Amino acid sequence: MQNLLIQGPSQIAGSVYISGSKNSALPILSATILCTSPVVIQKVPHLKDVTTMLSLLSNMGMTFSIDHELNVFVENSTLSKLEAPYDLVKQMRASVLVLGPTLARYGYAKVSLPGGCAIGTRPVDQHLKILCELGAEVKVEDGYIVATTKKLIGAEVKFDRETVTGTENILMAACLAQGKTVIHNAACEPEVKDLADFLNSMGAKIQGAGTSTIEIVGVSELGGGAYSVIPDRIEAGTLLIAAVMTQGQIKLIDCIPEHLTSCLEVLKQAGAQIETSDHTVSLKMDRRPKSVSIVTDVYPGIPTDLQAQFIAMNAIAEGASYVEETIFENRFMHVSELARMGAQITLNRNVVHIQGVDSLIGARVMATDLRASAALILAGISAQGVTSIDRIYHIDRGYANIQEKLIKLGASIERKTSKPPHYV
Ligand code: EPU
Repeated sequence: MQNLLIQGPSQIAGSVYISGSKNSALPILSATILCTSPVVIQKVPHLKDVTTMLSLLSNMGMTFSIDHELNVFVENSTLSKLEAPYDLVKQMRASVLVLGPTLARYGYAKVSLPGGCAIGTRPVDQHLKILCELGAEVKVEDGYIVATTKKLIGAEVKFDRETVTGTENILMAACLAQGKTVIHNAACEPEVKDLADFLNSMGAKIQGAGTSTIEIVGVSELGGGAYSVIPDRIEAGTLLIAAVMTQGQIKLIDCIPEHLTSCLEVLKQAGAQIETSDHTVSLKMDRRPKSVSIVTDVYPGIPTDLQAQFIAMNAIAEGASYVEETIFENRFMHVSELARMGAQITLNRNVVHIQGVDSLIGARVMATDLRASAALILAGISAQGVTSIDRIYHIDRGYANIQEKLIKLGASIERKTSKPPHYV
């Protein structure tokens, strides 16, 4: 069991390269199931969820190699097993992304039904509903989704609620469907657009990705080629918040400022001075942050994946604020941990009320999910004294080299292997 020991307070200062996006890399790797020629995917981030996706695809029969720059070469995408087993899906819900492409290419897919997770129940009913509307027969048997079809048929379909991986699953499936599919109420996140750009570069015919209506004209097969994943907007936002909390300055290199619009707006309201160019964001903070009340929303709103980090910022900001979570019903495990560090914070249903304190105090806390871990790390860097974060494996799932990056930016962080604590 590993934990992080953070000696605070430190000031975040310097330049940092932003890694490829986790939530783009996962669907793009999964989409290579549709490709019949070799594919090279560049800027794949080095993190545990990517390793889990590669294990799943390799378990299904794909072969890859990875070079020292983390380009993934898909040598043979032919699957010998059309099944995503429980053991892998339970490690990462995004494994459900193999459902759409496997069914579309092979007419059959068996994927363990993902269970709930720390942030919510997270059903996949919308993925299944739309696959049925494209002509699949879908059953749930012994905890597995079993989908079959002779051939998917394009149709006009509408999600009852926006779903990122749901849109991605249907986008991939519709690429090989017969005829035209129109998806209404599609998710507009940049990662959906990135997946569509990848698919188009492999020979798909998709228009409108990045808006709520996407049109796909089915093709008989996808080819191969090279594609580079977009930068990770959540990693970028997390590092910007770290600089704001520590009254530091930071330059993000290799990011897409447009994807950060809502985040930058919040940080400006908090008092940051921000300049952007085509692929960089420079931020300077020379005062204690001002509290900013926020409501999370689908893109281009404030991402739920930055909610925990903004709560950490408001915990040490001047004044009172609230943070309302509208995407996941239970994404608040960090609230009680931040309270252990001295945050004046209360949770009422899906709204967190915060009265900023001058400083947090280091404590032993527990990471409960990926973004909660990020919030605790930011809190630890800005706090007085030592913060020890248990169950830190969550952070390795979704941030590439976060410890090294933060140390280079001035944080004092050490990773320790310890005996597991006894939680009750
Ligand atoms: N939902 C349903 N039915 C469905 C699908 C979704 O009710 O069939 C609900 C969910 O329970 C949730 C809401 O719709 O309340 C939105 O969920 P969505 O499907 O959009 O989430 P996701 O696709 O499972 C992705 C990201 C998450 C990110 C969310 C929201 C990936 C691999 N994961 O999840 O990323 O928080 O979109 O933007 O892309 C993270 O990186 O830490 C993370 C959790």
